[in-house]
Amino acid sequence: MIIRGSRPYGEGEPVDVLVRNGVIAEIGDVTADDEVLDADGLVLLPGLVDLHTHLREPGGEDAETIETGSAAAALGGFTAVFAMPNTDPVADTAVIAEYVYRRGREIGLVDVHPVGAVTVGQRGDQLAELGMMANSAAAVRMFSDDGRCVHDPLVMRRALEYAAALDVVIAQHAEDPRLTAGAQAHEGVVASKLGLAGWPAAAEETIVARDCALARDAGGALHVCHVSSVRTVAVLRDAKAAGIRVSAEVTPHHLMLTDELLADYDPVFKVNPPLRTAADTEALRTALAEGLIDCVATDHAPHAPQHKDCEWDGARPGMLGLQTALSVLVSTMVEPGLLDWRGVARVLSERPADIVGLADQGRPIAVGELATLALIDPTAQWTVRGDELASIAGNTPYEGMRLPARVVATMLRGRVTAQDGKVQGGRVTA
Ligand code: DOR
Ligand code: ZN
Repeated sequence: MIIRGSRPYGEGEPVDVLVRNGVIAEIGDVTADDEVLDADGLVLLPGLVDLHTHLREPGGEDAETIETGSAAAALGGFTAVFAMPNTDPVADTAVIAEYVYRRGREIGLVDVHPVGAVTVGQRGDQLAELGMMANSAAAVRMFSDDGRCVHDPLVMRRALEYAAALDVVIAQHAEDPRLTAGAQAHEGVVASKLGLAGWPAAAEETIVARDCALARDAGGALHVCHVSSVRTVAVLRDAKAAGIRVSAEVTPHHLMLTDELLADYDPVFKVNPPLRTAADTEALRTALAEGLIDCVATDHAPHAPQHKDCEWDGARPGMLGLQTALSVLVSTMVEPGLLDWRGVARVLSERPADIVGLADQGRPIAVGELATLALIDPTAQWTVRGDELASIAGNTPYEGMRLPARVVATMLRGRVTAQDGKVQGGRVTA
C-alpha cells in the first residue's frame, strides 16, 4: 500500500510512504501500482501506545470486552494497549494474563498486553507470582494493583525489588486509603459546597514521595499512574533530579476537565483520582510539555449504566478515553502551542513504549521499520456521542463536545485496523 502525501510528525513537505510485508519499504516520491491510501494534508505518527486501559474482560463484559475495547483502541489511533488487571477474576496469575494476551491476538486489532496484579487478588498483602507472569507467554512487563494503592510499604518495597530483578515496571495507583476513606471529590471549595467528602491531593503526593524513596533503594522502575495534582509534580521533579527510576502518566481528562463540572452531581464526571482545579490542569500541562510527566495514558474505564446512571455516592469512578485521547491532547496541548506533533508522538507513542520496553512500538517512521502507524486529520472537528463510540459502555465526559483532530486510519504491522471510523479486518461488530 502507498500512503500518499502525508507529513510524518506534521513536519516538512508531504511524502509517500510505501508499505510492503508489514514494513516501511520506501519514503519519498513513490511510483508503484500498490493500493493507494490518500493522505493528502494528514499527519503521520507512530501508532499510539496506551499504558493504562481497562478492558473489563474477564468478568465485566456488560461494560467492555477485549473485542470492543480493541475496536475503540484501533479507532483512537492505538496499536498497543496495556490492560489493567482489576477484572473478575483479577489477572494475578499467568493463566489469566495469557488468556487476555491470546484473546487480544485472536481479535488482532491492537496488541493487548496484560498488566499483572502486584498482589494476590489486589488485596495488598501478599505478592502475586510476578516472575511466573513475566516469564509466561504473555511476557507481562508491567504490574499494578490499579483501582487500589499498594499501601503496605514493605509489600511495595519487595515488589520494587522483584521489578529490579525481573526488569519490569511497578505502576502505582497512588492513593493513601487512610486519607481517602469515603472520598467522593477533590478536597476543595467545590466539594465543600456540594457536601461531598474530599479526596486530598496529599493522599497522592505522600504515596509518590514514599514510593520514590523505595524505588531508589530497590533500584526498581516505578511508574506513577494518572498524576492529578500540582503537588505530585513537585515530588516528581525532585525524584527525577536525583536520578530515581520513576516515570509518570497523566490522563486526557486530568489535562482538560476540572471539579467545577461536578455542580450537577452527574456521575459521568466521577473518576479516581478526582478531577481537580484549573491550577492543577495547568500545572499538569506544563509538566507534560517539559517531560516531567512522561506520557499520556487514557485510564479508559467503561462502566455499565447501572453503575453510572445512579446517585453520585453509589456510582463507580471512571470514564471512557480511548477514542477521545488524541483529540483532547490536541485541544489541551497542541492548539495552545505547548506540544507540536513530534511532542504528540513522544507522549502518546515513544515514551510509553520505552517505559515498558516494547521493542516493536513507538518506533521512528523510517525505511525498514514496522508499519505501525496512525494517520491523523489535524483540521477535522467532530462531536462526541457516547452511543457512537465502539465501547459497550457510553460513559464519556465529553458528550456533545466538539473536539479537534480525527484519526483517519490506524495500521498495525502493515495491516489497516481502522479507517474512516470503521474497524477493518477484525471480527468486530460493535
Ligand atoms: O476512575 C478510575 N476507574 N480509577 C481507577 O483507578 C480504576 C478505574 C476503574 O477500574 O474503573
Ligand atoms: Zn488508578
